[in-house]
Amino acid sequence: MNLLKFDSTEKLNEAGAGIITGLIQTNRRAVLGLATGGTPVGIYGEVVASYRRGLVSFKEVTTFNLDEYVGLPEEHPESYHSYMEQHLLRHIDLPREQAHIPNGNAADLQEECRRYDALLDKAGQIDLQLLGLGHNGHIGFNEPDHALISGAHVVTLREETRQANARFFPSLADVPTQAITMGVGTILKAKMILLVVRGADKAEIVHRALTGPITTDCPASLLQTHPHLVVLLDNEAGRLFP
Ligand code: GLP
Repeated sequence: MNLLKFDSTEKLNEAGAGIITGLIQTNRRAVLGLATGGTPVGIYGEVVASYRRGLVSFKEVTTFNLDEYVGLPEEHPESYHSYMEQHLLRHIDLPREQAHIPNGNAADLQEECRRYDALLDKAGQIDLQLLGLGHNGHIGFNEPDHALISGAHVVTLREETRQANARFFPSLADVPTQAITMGVGTILKAKMILLVVRGADKAEIVHRALTGPITTDCPASLLQTHPHLVVLLDNEAGRLFP
């Protein structure tokens, strides 16, 4: 594990974006696993800035998002489809058919999970998987449980996850109760994982995930088993690391 701490959000964002654009510069057909949430917004901003400066092109890149809410229309401002449009896709030259996000409105959600896994299989290994971290140790929407599922699946969101995400919605009642998420097995198959964590409220969970027991009660703890894990923390989230 390579853990880097930054004394400002700007530096963290630049470092994260530099890893992503550097990969595409060396492999123009890179397959990226992408995350949503508040944490990667600034990283996407820096990636877009690099694109605008002509440093990188996404024409042959393929992307797979980790997750999407079930039952939220794609055009809803808080859908992960809207998020990706707003923060990345509309600003860069990535052909839309190469950007994959689970369809949380599919008539048959189980079939949609199978379709998503088949697409991932066809694309081969994810070269770089970007991850944020939930306060309860979730990655994607893989919630703490007695067992974790390897492939894409429908998940019922934990109450604490809905509460954490309620800040993006008019009220808690508006936060969807289910999501489709990429499975932990798929996440761990990525060649490289880039975990980004910010803020004092995540200091304990990121410390537990990376130094505590490896357990399905903290899905992010499984990242300890990954041979190529890079962790970017701001000073607040990294408080418990020397
Ligand atoms: C969300 C997303 C995750 C994200 C996490 C943390 O629910 N499904 O992919 O990493 O929660 O989000 P944030 O970065 O907003 O704290």
